[in-house]
Amino acid sequence: MRPVIRAAVADDLPALVALDEVCFGPTAWSEVAWLDEFERLSEDRVVLVADDGVVVGYVVLLLPPVALDVVEVLRIAVAPDRRRTGVGGQLMTVALQRCAGRTVLLEVAAGNESAIGLYAGFGFAEISRRRGYYPGGEDAVIMRWREEA
Ligand SMILES: CC(C)(COP(=O)(O)OP(=O)(O)OC[C@H]1O[C@@H](n2cnc3c(N)ncnc32)[C@H](O)[C@@H]1OP(=O)(O)O)[C@@H](O)C(=O)NCCC(=O)NCCS
Repeated sequence: MRPVIRAAVADDLPALVALDEVCFGPTAWSEVAWLDEFERLSEDRVVLVADDGVVVGYVVLLLPPVALDVVEVLRIAVAPDRRRTGVGGQLMTVALQRCAGRTVLLEVAAGNESAIGLYAGFGFAEISRRRGYYPGGEDAVIMRWREEA
């Protein structure tokens, strides 16, 4: 079966919590935090890739209230054994299609080369830094994407 990309549904919660733990370890979101994200699932703000029913990647967006035009990418991750196969790119493509006409912001650790490589490939550019933002003193890089006119 080919991988499918779709909005998350309530039944996906355990798989997302588990994959987040694998991808982020000590900084994974708790189940309670994921439940908060799921409160507004109707906005299709959690999008995932499932392969044969197994969740292999996800992206979480923070969509703006009406009249604001900034979307934030809160999280994106792909199962370690599926990285570099295009899943992250698939997720980002769908996320940016949803953001047409808006500005998209995200924050990433300065040393996260894979994520920065992914974002740069989609045209995100650094707009500022929070020096020493992460535990251990790593900078946070703020990146912005705007649709080409
Ligand atoms: C960042 C992440 C989501 C990328 O997902 P992915 O499925 O591996 O990405 P893709 O296979 O679609 O790669 C798309 C492009 O991103 C860039 N990229 C991905 N991994 C890279 C790496 N390790 N080094 C440099 N560039 C990389 C490349 O330009 C790549 O295109 P290419 O393979 O044609 O060269 C994945 O590495 C991940 O889950 N990391 C851990 C979680 C994380 O740090 N999330 C971001 C912070 S919230």
